[in-house]
Amino acid sequence: MRTSYKVILAGLGVFGLIQFIPRNHNNDPELEKHPLFTDYPTSHTVENIIRFACADCHSNHTEYPWYAKIQPVSMWIDHHVDEGKEHFNIDAWNTYSRKQQKHKIEECIEVIEEDEMPMKGYVKMHERANLTALQKKEITLWAKGLIDSMGRRN
Ligand code: HEC
Repeated sequence: MRTSYKVILAGLGVFGLIQFIPRNHNNDPELEKHPLFTDYPTSHTVENIIRFACADCHSNHTEYPWYAKIQPVSMWIDHHVDEGKEHFNIDAWNTYSRKQQKHKIEECIEVIEEDEMPMKGYVKMHERANLTALQKKEITLWAKGLIDSMGRRN
């Protein structure tokens, strides 16, 4: 057998074997109302932007695409979801202190205004996460309102 065939076969073998690596299931049922949206009036438009552009990595419910079942893609997605949730989880909103909540919302404004979030690779695969200037404005205005309302309460 030619060396190139052996290399291809070995590659396929490894690909086959890594399929057995277990993947995460960030699969809590999606909440009708995410805790983040209960603190301050939130329009459906803003809720939907966050659901479609952020919630896959920043909530307890990920809508997995079909290719999430294939390794090493699963590991790569799991890593983003784990890390994303660690930084900010809209379903853990009620477990954050007021100070943390405020800080996280300030960070949200920053990452959206600087086009750091949603992550570029994610946007390529999810057209609806490709936010228009108007959507960015809507979400940052809402976030600023939320911060103001927290200031008033403290
Ligand atoms: C594909 C997964 C994914 C999506 C979608 C996503 N994020 Fe993230 N997010 C991450 C990861 C991973 C991190 C941590 C690493 C980093 O900062 O790049 C993060 C970090 C953050 C942070 C913390 C930043 C910091 O400076 O520590 C904020 C705030 C944030 N994301 C907000 C958002 C918002 C708002 C959206 C939607 C507009 C969003 N993210 C969409 C994966 C994602």
